[in-house]
Amino acid sequence: MARSSIHGQWSSRWVFILAATGSAVGLGNIWRFPYLTGENGGAAFVLLYLGCIAAVGVPLLMAEIMLGRRGRQSPIHSFESLAQDESLSRNWRWLGAMGVVAGFMILSFYSVVAGWSLAYVFYTGSGMFADITVEGAGERFNAMIGSAETLLAWHTVFMVMTAIIVGRGVQSGLEQAVKYLMPALFILLIAMVGYAMGTGDFGAAISYLFHPDFSKLTNKTVLEALGQAFFSLSLGMGAILTYGSYLSDNTSIPHTSVIIALADTAVALLAGLAVFPIVFAYGLEPSSGPGLVFVSLTLAFAHMPFGQVFGCLFFILLTVAAWTSAISLLEPATAWLVERLKWRRRHAVIWTGTIAWVMGIGSLLSFNHWDSVKFFGKNFFDSMEFISTSVMLPVGGLLIAVFAGWRMSRASSSDELRMQSTLGYSVWRVLTRYVAPAGVVLVFLNALGIL
Ligand code: PHE
Repeated sequence: MARSSIHGQWSSRWVFILAATGSAVGLGNIWRFPYLTGENGGAAFVLLYLGCIAAVGVPLLMAEIMLGRRGRQSPIHSFESLAQDESLSRNWRWLGAMGVVAGFMILSFYSVVAGWSLAYVFYTGSGMFADITVEGAGERFNAMIGSAETLLAWHTVFMVMTAIIVGRGVQSGLEQAVKYLMPALFILLIAMVGYAMGTGDFGAAISYLFHPDFSKLTNKTVLEALGQAFFSLSLGMGAILTYGSYLSDNTSIPHTSVIIALADTAVALLAGLAVFPIVFAYGLEPSSGPGLVFVSLTLAFAHMPFGQVFGCLFFILLTVAAWTSAISLLEPATAWLVERLKWRRRHAVIWTGTIAWVMGIGSLLSFNHWDSVKFFGKNFFDSMEFISTSVMLPVGGLLIAVFAGWRMSRASSSDELRMQSTLGYSVWRVLTRYVAPAGVVLVFLNALGIL
């Protein structure tokens, strides 16, 4: 029954690990994790997030890679074929389709934020932040998001960058980008933590991030922690499934999954440790929202030696991290068009990239011209972010767990996972069948106020 992918294969296990880590590590870790932590009061949120990664994230990461490698196609077609193998309903393909929609929604706001990072490469590099004050850093950020033209320009540049790589084919396009740049980002982040330790209020940051105050937990916090776990590991929409479909048969899925999850979590925590000491030292508001990282790190770069160089480098690497994630958001829909309509990749990506680009315009306008247009109290950007990450990814993840744990036969999943220890396999199965679905359902009931 072994299938092969028409899109090719990763050239080695390391390349897969780098690509999947490239997908996982991105704005979710460095931009979203610190600002959500700040909005949700700190350590209690961090703890919940870590719990979700371990109990739900890792088993689902394994499940998605496993389904992708067995299906060997884009999510929609993989679910269709796998359902056929197990004599299940063809309707499972709608699960893949929901992932494609979620991918467009995420990419639409993701590209706008990646555009901020691109803009900051030039702002920091030009030296305009030298000796800037707290107010100045905030004003600069607000001036940027207040200008629709500026946001549109950077959003467009970023989307074109993403489409070019997806159009070239993920392997040749992506392998080069991740091999050197991801490790460089990691090292620079450690240097930033070192700087924050020396000059910021490190003690306050540690206690904020790691001494939980459970009275700060609300229903919304729990839901956002779960959504962030999915978002950060790129789960629930088929990005990792698609990357799994290019994985060679002899790679160990459990080992690679653990490496990816550890790297992803480490980057998020490092970002928190780099940002919060600065936030407290300068008296910034932890709950100030999406601008938090940009404003706080600008202040750090403004006052550190060679800050102009470091700042510019940091935002270049952040852009690359966003880029390798955005590629994985656009890949499932593009691969589906190539399979379905036999289009060339370059042709397909013009369509998918354009759809995501147009949707992104709604997101960028919500910081300026449309800032008073609200749906249920949220602007377009916040609505996209909330519906895709806090609703669609967990629902997608729940259904993926049901498919992999309940609908797919034990023989198929154990054959594909090929775990050496039967205990390991049993643990995965229990987590996938019971813990992950129950976790998602409980969090939803809690968010709806039923629990
Ligand atoms: N994991 C990416 C990040 O943390 C975002 C992402 C979500 C990518 C879903 C692909 C799929 O930045």
